[in-house]
Amino acid sequence: MCGIVGYTGKKHDCVNILLDGLRRLEYRGYDSAGIAVLANGKIESIKSVGKVKKLQDKINESAASTTSIKTASTGIAHTRWATHGAPTEQNAHPHMDDNGDFALVHNGIIENYQALKENLIKKGHTFRSETDSEAIVHLISECYEGDLFQAVAAAIKKIEGTFGIAVISTKHPDTIITARRGSPIVIGIGNSETIVASDLAAIVSYTRRVIFLNDDDIALITPDNIDIRNIENVPVSRETAHIDWDTGAAEKSGFDHFMLKEIFEQPEAITNAIRGHLDDSSATSILSGLNLSPREMSMINRIVIAACGTSLHAGMMGEYFFEDFADLPTEIQQAAEFRYRNPILEPNSMVIAISQSGETADTLAAVREATQKGAIVASICNVVGSTITRETSRGIYLHAGPEIGVASTKAFTCQVAVMLMMALKFGRNRRLSRQEGLEIMNEIRKVPELVKKVLDTAPEIEKVAERYANASNFFFIGRGYLYPVALEGALKLKEISYIHAEGYHAAELKHGPIALLEENVPVMALANDIPGRDKMLGNIQECRARKSPVIATATEGDTEIKNIVNDVIYIPRSPHYTACIPTVTALQLFSYYVAKKRGCSIDQPRNLAKSVTVE
Ligand code: F6R
Repeated sequence: MCGIVGYTGKKHDCVNILLDGLRRLEYRGYDSAGIAVLANGKIESIKSVGKVKKLQDKINESAASTTSIKTASTGIAHTRWATHGAPTEQNAHPHMDDNGDFALVHNGIIENYQALKENLIKKGHTFRSETDSEAIVHLISECYEGDLFQAVAAAIKKIEGTFGIAVISTKHPDTIITARRGSPIVIGIGNSETIVASDLAAIVSYTRRVIFLNDDDIALITPDNIDIRNIENVPVSRETAHIDWDTGAAEKSGFDHFMLKEIFEQPEAITNAIRGHLDDSSATSILSGLNLSPREMSMINRIVIAACGTSLHAGMMGEYFFEDFADLPTEIQQAAEFRYRNPILEPNSMVIAISQSGETADTLAAVREATQKGAIVASICNVVGSTITRETSRGIYLHAGPEIGVASTKAFTCQVAVMLMMALKFGRNRRLSRQEGLEIMNEIRKVPELVKKVLDTAPEIEKVAERYANASNFFFIGRGYLYPVALEGALKLKEISYIHAEGYHAAELKHGPIALLEENVPVMALANDIPGRDKMLGNIQECRARKSPVIATATEGDTEIKNIVNDVIYIPRSPHYTACIPTVTALQLFSYYVAKKRGCSIDQPRNLAKSVTVE
């Protein structure tokens, strides 16, 4: 969940590159940050609690920065999301060994760190932090016999858990050694400079040529060379990929927050997600990434979708689509639950892992469990080259562009659009007629415009949101296709505004939660004109009878609803299977404006990280 960046080369100012990389990675974790550079044969390290800005101020004020640090050409840096030990300067990375010969940054969790630590203390090492990470740097120095590869290989053989690490050493100038297991590491190849990071966001401004490491790869990096070996110290070759990213996409471009920018990018993001996938001549979608012939597709008799958080809600939408369009029994499972419950999978079961980052630990574990049980495993991911995409080898990219705001927005709507196309494909492979296929395709094509119409009403949604910004509790209720949207709306509100919000099936309200309704507990009722609306009107009355203020989402032209609710957010008319997308956009805006009114840290909410690489 932390962010790592390292640089070696003389083309750019090393410290500036490290700080720039940290700023771009800050969304991964942000309770403390630090850098270490090789300067005049020594390691100089500066750390600070808080955001990267604080670290930058500290570096500017430090005496060392005017001399040695400024001239450094090799260094590593880290932005932390605390797992072991409070967010203090001592616990911030980089961590050093006793003699100050090695400095290390780490992303992941070392499960056997207590045993390692006790053993290392017995051997005379002194620990200065409460972190699990510090054990790795002592271990490397303990294993070091003059060869960095050998030292890191020996150290990681003793480690249980997950790691992406980058290490510098006074004994090896102009060199960074990096390795991974379970946490991503990507190396950017420049011209006489090399960058290593946990995430492409820190690299793409400098180079688009990258290498993704596999688990248990160790890479020795210098400005002009990248030497990759496996854990047995045997050279391995890894493909160089070219990354097609618009760097402007990783800037705020005039918006107050990345989240708002990403909400507004949705029409374009969804257009990119569906681009080239809809084929009029066959009245279906072309999803060559699935790598399934029509015959193989027709043999699939069950779909299981595994995901976490917002991606889980997108998966719930998928369950409706696959069953409605393709008569294909589908179930959605929280990825951690899937991996530990010993799922029943048959050779004709297809498991779809959904993940924006492609790095979520539980979703990755679900992929591995499904793979070893012999299922057909595919992924729907946004981040190109991420671990889940590489381990599934079949799947569909969202092409939503980088999502920096911690709260997922455009990835969700693109995931839903991709699943619509997948369900269409399976549907046409089974029972949908050509005409029905064409109709669904046309509706999918209209989605970017539907979303745009909702975005045009942002000022009105802001006014509604401001009226509810003082609430302490909130309910979101929906039915059918709008049930997962209610869950997602509640998740968005709670994570960025810190208002306690619960998403419920409208019918479930009576089975307990209704006890909580009173005049200061508002209800967001998703009452669009799709199947279930009539029942929803009844549920709204039940809420009003308990004095709860009700905000409704409703289909444009529905004037009747105005009489029974306090506020209405209008959504353009579309069939039930696409209505969920513009509706979620309205809820994203609602949450954003509530959080803004409350003065919350919208892009980096407390306690959260963008990529959850721990269980
Ligand atoms: C909420 C949010 C998280 C993620 C979840 C899974 O806004 O972003 O709930 O959806 O951590 O992440 P991915 O999709 O990267 O697997």
